[in-house]
Amino acid sequence: MKTLSIIVTSTRPTRIGHRLGEWVAAQIPAEEWDARVVDLGELSLPMLDEEDMPRNGNYRLPHTQAWARTVAESDAILILTPEYNASFTAPLKNAIDILYAEWNDKPIGVIGYGWRGAARATAALSPVLGNVGADERGVLHLTFREDIAPDGSVLSTTTADRVVDLARKLA
Ligand SMILES: Cc1cc2nc3c(=O)[nH]c(=O)nc-3n(C[C@H](O)[C@H](O)[C@H](O)COP(=O)(O)O)c2cc1C
Repeated sequence: MKTLSIIVTSTRPTRIGHRLGEWVAAQIPAEEWDARVVDLGELSLPMLDEEDMPRNGNYRLPHTQAWARTVAESDAILILTPEYNASFTAPLKNAIDILYAEWNDKPIGVIGYGWRGAARATAALSPVLGNVGADERGVLHLTFREDIAPDGSVLSTTTADRVVDLARKLA
């Protein structure tokens, strides 16, 4: 069974990202994927603190090695990001920067959530994923008041289908 990691990238104590991540995981067909939530809020990765360049893959610190394993062992990844000040979250940027080769050719789907579907966040994320060689296969925008409520509860009945469609693009 292939592993699909759903990365929650907001870390605020009152974030809706975790709730949304658990909901997304529950929509993924169990016969197609082994879906797991990877929560950057729980991982608490330090800001990039390796001596060598990530491009060299010479990871010395246990938290970097563990993060590298998590990404490498994922057959595909769904990234959930809100929009913070017209971009994606700082913990996500750090989590991407810490590694390099592990992102190469990794099938990735992006789910932006927020007002106007976090369109500026997902647009800012694309060139970053491209720079590390990830294979971005699709983007889904979840908009407050249309698809989800600001508390993270899901409003629209088509949202689950859109999540499953995005996951299928990662196979
Ligand atoms: C620091 C910060 C900046 C934000 N900036 C934006 C923004 O630029 N555009 C937007 O639509 N929403 C913005 N919001 C509102 C978020 O979309 C909303 O709070 C969302 O729930 C954040 O996701 P989270 O709960 O998982 O942290 C911002 C929220 C925070 C905390």
